[in-house]
Amino acid sequence: MSHKSDLGTLSVVVVGASGDLAKRKIFPALFALYCQGFLPAELTITGFARSHLSQEEFRARITEHLTCRYTPGEKDCAEKMETFLSHCHYVSGQYGSTDAFLDLFMHLQQFEPHSRTNRLFYLAIPPSVFLDVAKAIGSAGFVYCGETSPWSRVVVEKPFGEDRDSSDELVHELSLVFSEDQTFRIDHYLGKEVIQNLLVLRFANRIFEPLWTKEHIKSVQISWAEQLGVEGRGGYFDQYGIIRDVVQNHLLQILSLVAMEPPARHASGSIRKEKVSVLKSIRPAALEDMVLGQYTTAAEGASPRPGYTDDETVPDDSRTCTYAAALLHIDNPRWEGVPFLLRAGKALDRKTTEIKILFHDLDNCVFCGPEDCPHANELVIRVQPDEAIIFRIMSKVPGLELDMESRDLDLQYDTAFSELIPDAYEDLLLDVIQGEKSLFIGSQELAAAWDIFTPVLQAIDENGVRPLPYPFGSTGPSEAMDLAVKAGGVWRQ
Ligand SMILES: NC(=O)c1ccc[n+]([C@@H]2O[C@H](COP(=O)([O-])OP(=O)(O)OC[C@H]3O[C@@H](n4cnc5c(N)ncnc54)[C@H](OP(=O)(O)O)[C@@H]3O)[C@@H](O)[C@H]2O)c1
Repeated sequence: MSHKSDLGTLSVVVVGASGDLAKRKIFPALFALYCQGFLPAELTITGFARSHLSQEEFRARITEHLTCRYTPGEKDCAEKMETFLSHCHYVSGQYGSTDAFLDLFMHLQQFEPHSRTNRLFYLAIPPSVFLDVAKAIGSAGFVYCGETSPWSRVVVEKPFGEDRDSSDELVHELSLVFSEDQTFRIDHYLGKEVIQNLLVLRFANRIFEPLWTKEHIKSVQISWAEQLGVEGRGGYFDQYGIIRDVVQNHLLQILSLVAMEPPARHASGSIRKEKVSVLKSIRPAALEDMVLGQYTTAAEGASPRPGYTDDETVPDDSRTCTYAAALLHIDNPRWEGVPFLLRAGKALDRKTTEIKILFHDLDNCVFCGPEDCPHANELVIRVQPDEAIIFRIMSKVPGLELDMESRDLDLQYDTAFSELIPDAYEDLLLDVIQGEKSLFIGSQELAAAWDIFTPVLQAIDENGVRPLPYPFGSTGPSEAMDLAVKAGGVWRQ
């Protein structure tokens, strides 16, 4: 629930303000919150980065992606943008320098009307400079000790380490500046509307929870597919690969919401407790239950697209995976024996993020015959694009014969709801401001998620595993189909 009261005085510092994320997501989300009255009148937004930008250049840069969706009407929107931009300032400085942050502090004092200003730091910077910045913020005296008003909070972007050890170290080092309560680890998938609907779907509808067990569910597949390759941004990706970039965080987070036990209350503590518990019940991923791939140039006849190692930002001999499918097993009474298949890939034939829940075939069905055995039910939860929840049921085809067909009970968000779907960053930033943590990743969740993939990541490195080639624009390595069969069958599209 969102509250507009008690907004206090707020100072937002976006570190890495010259970057892509700041421009495309953070400033547009702040503007959307501003338009809807979720930000206080006493507001300062300061961009900080090394690049030398004048105030005008900075404001022009962030204006590029501001939209009028919450303030229709050209004149009203232009006025809103102007007042919003009047709250935005830019300071340039080196990331690891306490002096630079002291300069920032002096700058902020011009705009902070009194000493009780709440401070939000958004670290939109590469992981290599992450701790230096946190330490400089701490040394410059920006961080209040307590967790109540005035508060200081830090938003941290993935990647949160490269394995369990590096993640633990990052958590520890950051905790020397910001306490766990002050730290908001963002996974923007958790802010997506359909993902937030998962708990409502499961726990606000009587029909689903009794069926949400191994007795009724045959398998669960969670898929993430992107049509783009690395497109000249291979530097970061080549170091991390698809398992660290997508599977270990976004897909495991979705899995934990699909598979967790009901929380005692709709409160961040209860939700996180159940997520940690289910993550700890997942057996570490095994190499024999994985298919790894790397895209190559497009197949003959298709429009020419470069393969992964053709990209000039990727080393020619790179073994980094751009595709991974992993079969996971949850050792708890609810899910014993139910395969969970996670799949993620770049340069595939479609862009989608989807959860598919396949129910068991009917036992002793009155309609079962050699040719007309009903299809099992499927629940499809489409996160993007075209958000939807689709329940596939068997239905009699109208007519004098008894013919059956699989048909969809179809909740398409764009036609079912007249409300605007907020961008995930709007929701998440509002939660940070309101101190609501259920959509952020706690340190225990992070550790449990790394425990699932760290052993297999080590095995891949130690054994020099080479990913299987798959053509740009295809469905991925054909070997993944065998894993899908092992996971309960191939899905109808
Ligand atoms: N872009 C996305 O959609 C997205 C999505 C999820 C997570 N993230 C995460 O969010 C963070 C920011 O992403 P981004 O795409 O905005 O990154 P970016 O554009 O590559 O970098 C942000 C800013 O950091 C500074 N910077 C870049 N490389 C640096 C280096 N090697 N050393 C020191 N400073 C450097 C640059 O500013 P100056 O040179 O002006 O200092 C740059 O404008 C990253 O941790 C990324 O993993 C991004």
